[in-house]
Amino acid sequence: MATATNEPVRLPPGPRMPKLFQGIVFLTALQYRMGPVWGRRYGGPFTINLPIFGKTVVVSDPILVKDVYSTSSDLIERPTKILGEAFGPGSTFSLTGDEHLQRRKLVLPNFHGKRVQNYERLIEEEVIRETADWPQGREFKTLPTMGRLTLNAILRAVFGEEKRALDELRTVMPAMIALGSLLQRQPPIVGRDYGRWSPGARLSQYRQRLDTVIDSLIADARTDPALAERSDVLALLLQARYDDGQPIPDRHIADELLTLVAAGHETTASQLAWTVERLRRHPQLLARLTDEVDTGGSELRQATIYEVQRTRPTLGASLRTANQQVRLGDWVLPAGTNMMIDFQLAHEAEDSFPDPDSFNPDRFLGATPPAFRWIPFGGGVNRCVGAGFAALEMDVALRTLLREFRFAPTDAPGERRHYRGVAIVPSRGGRAVVYRRKSATSSDRDSMSAVAGGS
Ligand code: HEM
Repeated sequence: MATATNEPVRLPPGPRMPKLFQGIVFLTALQYRMGPVWGRRYGGPFTINLPIFGKTVVVSDPILVKDVYSTSSDLIERPTKILGEAFGPGSTFSLTGDEHLQRRKLVLPNFHGKRVQNYERLIEEEVIRETADWPQGREFKTLPTMGRLTLNAILRAVFGEEKRALDELRTVMPAMIALGSLLQRQPPIVGRDYGRWSPGARLSQYRQRLDTVIDSLIADARTDPALAERSDVLALLLQARYDDGQPIPDRHIADELLTLVAAGHETTASQLAWTVERLRRHPQLLARLTDEVDTGGSELRQATIYEVQRTRPTLGASLRTANQQVRLGDWVLPAGTNMMIDFQLAHEAEDSFPDPDSFNPDRFLGATPPAFRWIPFGGGVNRCVGAGFAALEMDVALRTLLREFRFAPTDAPGERRHYRGVAIVPSRGGRAVVYRRKSATSSDRDSMSAVAGGS
């Protein structure tokens, strides 16, 4: 654990190139090349100096990762400014300290354990619906389909089955996230509201449209006599109570619901597109996975998802800031220093994953990924709230895709990582060529849906 200290400041070494260039590296695909180069050069944490952010210590060693994630939030905390501003003051991303922990206690159970299994049928329905018009024998991007199916799945999980309102959310949400992600990569001045046609103003307009829908859904739910029997997250949050018996204020519920939908779909969509991208380049694995699906197994599929998340994490890093001067391992970081836990570097460490560059799901067969080494969902008090939901979604989606389609392998080079401002996506959209499997008749499909729904 990191500790407070008055020792003289001692930051890890780092590149000496100008701040602006370091900023460009970290906002572009160069990051995926330079991160490993610097990681090797400094052999441990290193310090980069970024415009706006300032001094940032990049950490990937599992001991330091554990230290950062397990240190009390009085000393090391996630910065709330960036995502907090995007989602509003009532979002988990804006909350700190006790208030944040209390909110997690109310939100987390909705996406974990038994409750998450209730979403299995709706996820499978969305996969079948969104892939119904996939062309056969012609290359296409899978990322847009994955985006729609994960958006629909999270919207239904969060809001239940209110069709009309969901249609409006389905239109506004992707546009808002695309614009928000674009602005995320620009200096903050670009995102300000300069009047009607400026990007900042457009973002506010999207937010107003969303608020109108969400407010009406909250109002409807409040008067719903069947509220207590509903299992959607909106209904559960309306009925949730903090330890002191207080409800979550409506404004905070709106911010939270928006957070869950925004955080919960592009990430999973990108991970699924990466899964297709990886599998088409590993035909033997593809064949083994299809056999496994046909015989009702799941172990290799689970291991494959872990390996996709290891080799192509869809988010690049956890960010933290030192609230006071802290000692972290051998280093002393002044108050205000940022820490970036770099997932790619952590996942490519030879000590943690022998032969790290090979895509080899067998390394996870029957095993749980090692804590603080495999960290695509982050860690500590800010670990992804939706990890259980995302894991189920990826499993059900991959199972359904393998059951319904034969994916044509390819020897084309792997798609590059493309940073979209939040998510890292395959640069060519996770292209696929598919053929519908003849063995998967509609009656097979019906019976499998019934099994999925019953489990
Ligand atoms: C493959 C899919 C996903 C990935 C890779 C992912 C990854 C992450 C990561 C890396 C963090 C930050 C952790 C940190 O700062 O240490 C995070 C936070 C979060 N995620 Fe996810 N996520 C995914 C899906 C989801 C889904 C489906 C939901 C909603 C149901 C969700 C909701 C959240 C929320 C609310 C937080 C903030 C947690 C907090 O600060 O307490 N995520 N996620």
